[in-house]
Amino acid sequence: MSYENIVLEKREGIAFLRVDRPSALNALNAATITELEHAIDDVAKDEQVGALIWHGEGKAFIAGADIKELATLSPIEAKRLARRGQLLLGRLEGMGKPSVAAIGGFALGGGCEVALACTLRVAGDRARLGLPEVGLGLIPGYGGTQRLPRIVGTGRALELILTAEMVGAEEAHRIGLVNRIVDDAELLDAATALAKRIMANGPLAVEAAIESVHRGSDLALDDGLVLETCQFGVLAGTNDMREGTQAFIEKRKPDFKRS
Ligand code: CAA
Repeated sequence: MSYENIVLEKREGIAFLRVDRPSALNALNAATITELEHAIDDVAKDEQVGALIWHGEGKAFIAGADIKELATLSPIEAKRLARRGQLLLGRLEGMGKPSVAAIGGFALGGGCEVALACTLRVAGDRARLGLPEVGLGLIPGYGGTQRLPRIVGTGRALELILTAEMVGAEEAHRIGLVNRIVDDAELLDAATALAKRIMANGPLAVEAAIESVHRGSDLALDDGLVLETCQFGVLAGTNDMREGTQAFIEKRKPDFKRS
């Protein structure tokens, strides 16, 4: 598939996914969603890729779903669109590889929801984040009402969603909405360094940790703890666990093979 609204590049085991519709501040129209579905599938299946960095062209990460398209939808069409976006972001979140949102500029509505579905978020110092949907007579539809409270807590999530106000990078960092702030000029380098730091660890362990945290947060504590012990036990049978522990004993760097 050739892409018109996104660019997917792979370098040193990292997939760089850039939304490239700067004239609309990278708003996600249906054509872009179709391309993103394909790209995420590609990244998920590619065994040479260990992490994904999602970023945007120009002065926005993503300014949300395409409002001009939204305005024409019937209720059923809007419901289907929301579900499509949710499934796309569910696939991103559950693809078994870490993803980092490199947020330069606006991450609003569906764009903020993309960032929430990434494993980690790095913001440029001029980033502006928010869920402004109630100002349009809507609510967040790509998972924002569910993921935001899990990340920042119910009170802060409700404040952001109900006021429809944007927050800057400092405030986003203060409330835990982003993991790190860096100078805008260093955004991609910082996201890449973070991805590489994660990729130096056992990839099966990283995958299991992401799954355990995400699945576990939907479970009662005891059930989450059982999930954790199961993952722990499975990992203990992997070559990577033997390599990791042996490398420690031999005082050398491990060479993980994802097996
Ligand atoms: N959809 C479609 N077009 C958009 C857009 C969006 N979400 N956001 C920006 N654009 C377009 C503008 O219409 C404008 O196009 P024209 O030049 O053709 O008029 C262009 O991008 C540049 O935007 P502005 O002139 O508005 O730029 P600005 O710097 O003055 O303002 C902004 C920037 C504050 C981000 C403003 O563009 C804005 O408020 N955008 C909408 C943000 C929003 O409400 N997002 C939520 C969408 S709904 C959603 O996402 C639902 C969901 O949960 C799935």
